[in-house]
Amino acid sequence: MTADTRTSDRDRDTFHANRAKRYDDTIRRVIPGYDALHSMTGVMLKDAVPADGRVLVVGAGTGAELLALGQAAPGWSFTACDPAAGMLAIAEDRIKGHPVAERCGLHPCLCADLPAEETAFDAATCLLVMHFLPDDGTKLTLLKSIAERLKPGAPLILADMHETPGSPRHQLIMDAWMHWQLGNGIDPVEVEKGRRHVERDVHFVPLSRLTALLDEAGFTAPEHFFQAFLFGGFIAWRKED
Ligand SMILES: C[S@@+](CC[C@H](N)C(=O)[O-])C[C@H]1O[C@@H](n2cnc3c(N)ncnc32)[C@H](O)[C@@H]1O
Repeated sequence: MTADTRTSDRDRDTFHANRAKRYDDTIRRVIPGYDALHSMTGVMLKDAVPADGRVLVVGAGTGAELLALGQAAPGWSFTACDPAAGMLAIAEDRIKGHPVAERCGLHPCLCADLPAEETAFDAATCLLVMHFLPDDGTKLTLLKSIAERLKPGAPLILADMHETPGSPRHQLIMDAWMHWQLGNGIDPVEVEKGRRHVERDVHFVPLSRLTALLDEAGFTAPEHFFQAFLFGGFIAWRKED
């Protein structure tokens, strides 16, 4: 390796570390209970997944849930996918040096495009991902691609923003969430930008629709274990064949 390459590797590491820190700082001030969601996910899976179980992490982002799950169960191994190669590069940097790095494969792709041998998982997570997908068959395709990679009876932890779009309850909770962010010291301009991002990019469906999508994809009815403003956390199980 040349001196120039070493320098650019160091710059890349610093860049990714800084981006990861910015993402992590922001997401914790925007999503109440972000860390609790990850640690609760580990607890919800703990009894259902064998000590040496294989867990599929769909939309791994910057790797925070990989660290949390790796700590929850030191014997689990992970296959993580995310189509955003930049996010996965950050995840790779973040888990470097942690024991979970030895037990984790990172794939820069959609769940549907994972290698065929990535199947028969003991559990899956899909946290804060599906609400960005339109309900035009795309949400269903994602859930089906997870179901077909799970063993029958295996659990899925799904965390998604959910509510009936435009309903009074949606409006009430959205307003409260924005106030919470302002109280957390986020700049009002950023809060307004965030609201526009949610209104533009999140494809809300009510809980009844989430349940129907899970059913059609081959999962049982979800049990609701987490709620923070519009963010819900659910466990559902792949139906037996
Ligand atoms: C808000 S981040 C959540 C990351 C992580 N799960 C967490 O809890 O912090 C959403 C991630 O989902 C990824 N994503 C978007 N569409 C996806 C899809 N169809 N399959 C898998 N990941 C997807 C995005 O690239 C992004 O990294």
